Amino acid sequence: MRSKEMLKAAKEHILDINEFPDIIMEKGEGMYLWDTEENIYLDFLGGWAVTSLGHSPKVIQEALKEQSETLVNASPSFYNKPMVEFAQYLAKHSCFDMAFFGSSGSEANEAALKLARKYGQKYKNGAYKIVALKKGFHGRTLAMMSATGKLSWKEKFEPKVVGFTHVSRNDIQAMKAAIDEETCAVMLEPILGEGGICEMDYDYIQQLRKVCDETNTLLIFDEVQTGIGRTGTLFAYEQYNIEPDIMTLAKGIGGGFPLSTMLTKKELNIFERGDQGGTYVGQPLAMAVGLAVVKEVVDKRLSDNAMKMGEVIKQRLENLKMKGYITEIRGRGLMIAFDFAIEKASELTKLCRSNGLIIRERDERTIRLLPPLIVAENHIDKMIELLEKSMEEILIRYGVKMK
Ligand SMILES: Cc1ncc(COP(=O)(O)O)c(C=O)c1O
Repeated sequence: MRSKEMLKAAKEHILDINEFPDIIMEKGEGMYLWDTEENIYLDFLGGWAVTSLGHSPKVIQEALKEQSETLVNASPSFYNKPMVEFAQYLAKHSCFDMAFFGSSGSEANEAALKLARKYGQKYKNGAYKIVALKKGFHGRTLAMMSATGKLSWKEKFEPKVVGFTHVSRNDIQAMKAAIDEETCAVMLEPILGEGGICEMDYDYIQQLRKVCDETNTLLIFDEVQTGIGRTGTLFAYEQYNIEPDIMTLAKGIGGGFPLSTMLTKKELNIFERGDQGGTYVGQPLAMAVGLAVVKEVVDKRLSDNAMKMGEVIKQRLENLKMKGYITEIRGRGLMIAFDFAIEKASELTKLCRSNGLIIRERDERTIRLLPPLIVAENHIDKMIELLEKSMEEILIRYGVKMK
């Protein structure tokens, strides 16, 4: 099928849930994607922080080949070899003991909240409420839409799941006021991802840990976006010198393969049989891929690269800020956002794409960069060149004169 026919088929047969551009992606390798017209794109979005090792990495290919030749599916009612190895590896490299495996971030977060409610029933007189953050993002299932503090979702798919309150980030007094005897958990991202790359202060997290301990409330870190090396350590919680009670991972842990995990301590191994499960829990292909991806991140010290390259990106962005193209730069490691000088961020994203660079706007002001952890300086040079060229074109288009 030619690209035009394929696009026609796409519009006829794929549910219209997104503003898909008229492009069909066909191939990926390292930092690059190719479409069916053989256009090449430098990918600084990484599928929204997913392709941690870049596109079609050898380790994923090999893990899939080997595992698919051995065992594709056993059954969620049996342990399988890669599942045990992966759970053991995650326990060794984190402060947690036990894992539940799923396929998406939302699924891992659902598991986390079910576990928190179980804890509330068992140990806190039926406490069921969850405190989350305004501008936080936790997924698109009904419960996760309820947990998500996105204003534009407030009226959607009513009625929501009950029991959620939202407070502002870095406001410990608001958090203290929101936690009561019916609260079983606080859930937050250590750096708001979809919320525009906004960090939690060190002191805030330190105090939050204390408040949770004093009130017998579980602390859940949603590290779906920040986890697996992205912020400069394997997990972002390490940089706050605390241990959450529960952590969820997805995106980067599968490097592009659908995989998520909820990790917790052995004291919270409290689900009763039948409370939690799923057809693809511990699916052997996903387990083999996850283990290979996380091993690669650890063995190649890709979190160090994330920290180093993140600094390089921010330095280069500073130059664009000095020219007046950018007004603010935020983020840690390879989780970076910047504000464009004029409210035309979606136009900038589109122009960058037609110039061969994939980035993504959060809103009309903010652009996010979430490149693979393998990014190198030559990719950053190219990204800045394409970005600057595109920004200049947009600024001229709107008659904005720069210094
Ligand atoms: C912090 C965070 N949590 C949860 C999710 C939901 O993950 P998924 O889309 O895999 O369900 C996302 C997705 O963007 C996320 O960024």
